[in-house]
Amino acid sequence: MARKVGILTGGGDCPGLNAVIRAVSKSLILQNNIKVIGFEDGFDGLIFRKTVDLTYDAVSGILQTGGTILGTSNKANPFRHAIEKNGKLEYVDKSKEVLAYIEELQLEALVCIGGDGTMAISKQMIEMGVPIVGVPKTIDNDIFHTDMTFGYDTAVTIAAEAIDRIHTTAQSHHRIMLVEVMGRYAGWLTLAAGIAGGADIILLPEIDYNLDVVCDRCLERSRKGRRFSIIAVSEGAKPINGNRVVSRVIKDSPDQIRLGGIAIKLGNDIEDQTGLETRATVLGHLQRGGSPTPFDRILATRYGVAAAELVGKRQYNEMVALRGNEIVSVPIRDVGGKTRTVPLDSPLIHTAEAVGTSMGI
Ligand code: F6P
Repeated sequence: MARKVGILTGGGDCPGLNAVIRAVSKSLILQNNIKVIGFEDGFDGLIFRKTVDLTYDAVSGILQTGGTILGTSNKANPFRHAIEKNGKLEYVDKSKEVLAYIEELQLEALVCIGGDGTMAISKQMIEMGVPIVGVPKTIDNDIFHTDMTFGYDTAVTIAAEAIDRIHTTAQSHHRIMLVEVMGRYAGWLTLAAGIAGGADIILLPEIDYNLDVVCDRCLERSRKGRRFSIIAVSEGAKPINGNRVVSRVIKDSPDQIRLGGIAIKLGNDIEDQTGLETRATVLGHLQRGGSPTPFDRILATRYGVAAAELVGKRQYNEMVALRGNEIVSVPIRDVGGKTRTVPLDSPLIHTAEAVGTSMGI
């Protein structure tokens, strides 16, 4: 009987998901004659039995497209499925039904493309006996045991271009311009975009900023005749002894907190303290939209082919990863539910500081 494998995309979308779906499917079909079934909307596809046949033709022409042809969800979780009863949310365990469905479909394994949340759910499914191969996705670049996730390079490119554009209007109006960058509790995206965009100040979730230091740097630049400053600030940044700014709480999401708004708060604080005029731009979901960069298309394709090769060898319960320039694989159980933040001794922080960029301390 022909081998059959399922594939899903979980968590927030990011550029390069389609490139992975294409690479996994084409490679499995061409190299191993394995049939591929896609599940729609992440783990919801397994709960609600929503599938699509990923034939060779179905995955053709999607390499360069943004989003995911399968749809995704950062709420779907077979172990904690939210249902509304009398206006209240209740959680039920659907994992046994999902397991029965996988058996019914005669699937040999699942390829789960996602971030730390998806890997955490994958780990639980592995414990129930479902063979899984993971592929690390996120613009945040915060997944353990991989040097880089696909989607990150595209988001860095978008954020750096935004900082470039903010530069010209900042110069013209002699303003302090704040650009808020996504990344949750990890500052990789802000750090890279800030360096690439030549930000004067870079504020990360990993380093609580000192408002006086930030204000002094802006004033110092003004005194020296540079009458504008660019601040790249992570959505997860916070002042010493202060709190992160929460934009919303999503009750039925495993990770309920959504960050956002620190650029507006900090802009007001700087204006109050220095009298300098500020404006804030929150880049938001722009950073996840559109076509992946060539780098991400290549990385996503390498990941997809490597994931298919693991399936081909029946080497399950591992996530493909990048170490240096090599594609390797690591146990999924070591990845899920953890956040890889920027270490304080990161060479990238050193690089930023060496060219005079302030890290806000
Ligand atoms: O994890 C990716 C990410 O874009 C984060 O950078 C951001 O904090 C979060 O997802 C936003 O989530 P949502 O799409 O649910 O608003």
